[in-house]
Amino acid sequence: MDRADLDFANLPFAYHPTDANVRVFFREGSWSLPEVSSDQYLTLHMASVCLHYGQAIFEGLKAYERPDGQVQTFRPRENARRLRRSAQKLLMEPVPEDVFLDAVFRAVAANRRFVPPHASGAALYIRPFQIGTRAEVGVKPSADYLFMVFCTPVGPYYKAGLTPVRLRVEEQIDRAAPGGVGDTKAAGNYAAGMRATMAAKKEGYSEVLYLDARTKSFIDESGSSNFFAIQGDTFITPASPSILASITNKSVQVLARDMGLCVEERPVSVEELGSFDEAGALGTAAVITPVGSITYRGEEFTYAKEGKAGPITTALFERLVAIQTGEQEDPYGWCDVVPGT
Ligand SMILES: Cc1ncc(COP(=O)(O)O)c(C=O)c1O
Repeated sequence: MDRADLDFANLPFAYHPTDANVRVFFREGSWSLPEVSSDQYLTLHMASVCLHYGQAIFEGLKAYERPDGQVQTFRPRENARRLRRSAQKLLMEPVPEDVFLDAVFRAVAANRRFVPPHASGAALYIRPFQIGTRAEVGVKPSADYLFMVFCTPVGPYYKAGLTPVRLRVEEQIDRAAPGGVGDTKAAGNYAAGMRATMAAKKEGYSEVLYLDARTKSFIDESGSSNFFAIQGDTFITPASPSILASITNKSVQVLARDMGLCVEERPVSVEELGSFDEAGALGTAAVITPVGSITYRGEEFTYAKEGKAGPITTALFERLVAIQTGEQEDPYGWCDVVPGT
């Protein structure tokens, strides 16, 4: 394999063009065969439902080069299921799991030369997405869909790696409403959060931490990741109907239990901020990012001593990354080798 000429160790979390993407069309009631394309652009009708009425959902997962040179993806079936759940909630045609997996594997295999070398700290980010493409001017679900997968090599989302980030609790802007679609990966959820994130960045924070929209008293999640805290030997993470069910979080809960920690998935009051020993963000892009401090109503609660991640956060991060990259054996059956890599 002739690897792409990139500085893999210093990649940003940003789009970089790759060789191919995969497209599957839902037309006249059935899914087409996958098409592999080198075109980075789409031809869409200007009245497509996705452009006006928001039938647009996506997923994010990563592929890693293992020490033996094969490429593996982390829990792709979970992403397939979550895309289907998002589709059902937005009245879109759910993509069959085998169609999803086949498109993901084809996209990775076609871009093998962009998979960062093992232990470079980078990964191939995979972005499956689905949009309603039928031309409509009345508000109603599209009858036609495009399901597509592209890939791009990325470094960590929070550039500093295991260096703690600062968060601010957001009390003015809501990301998701009770009874809304905050538990789906709907594109509109991210537009709804941009005002809050951009304002927080201007103030020197990395992200905001949203509260439940109804009472503003329980922690939900941040704009692009779930939240966890460590209290003694307990891993705590918010249970809420308006957050995205993070696959990273679900996995880390298993690792935490296997490390002997108690795991509590429950409503987490913002009043508990002072009682955490460690805190962190969980997600495909964030992996496990330690949270050094959270500012709430002008008070800064700190969780990282001398600017370093705590011992439990560090241990969870190392174990997760070792499994994802194939450095350690995967006893959970989470990783799938991509055929043809
Ligand atoms: C809003 C939100 N919460 C949580 C997550 C983390 O989910 P996962 O671990 O499945 O990537 C993401 C994205 O990755 C997200 O966009």
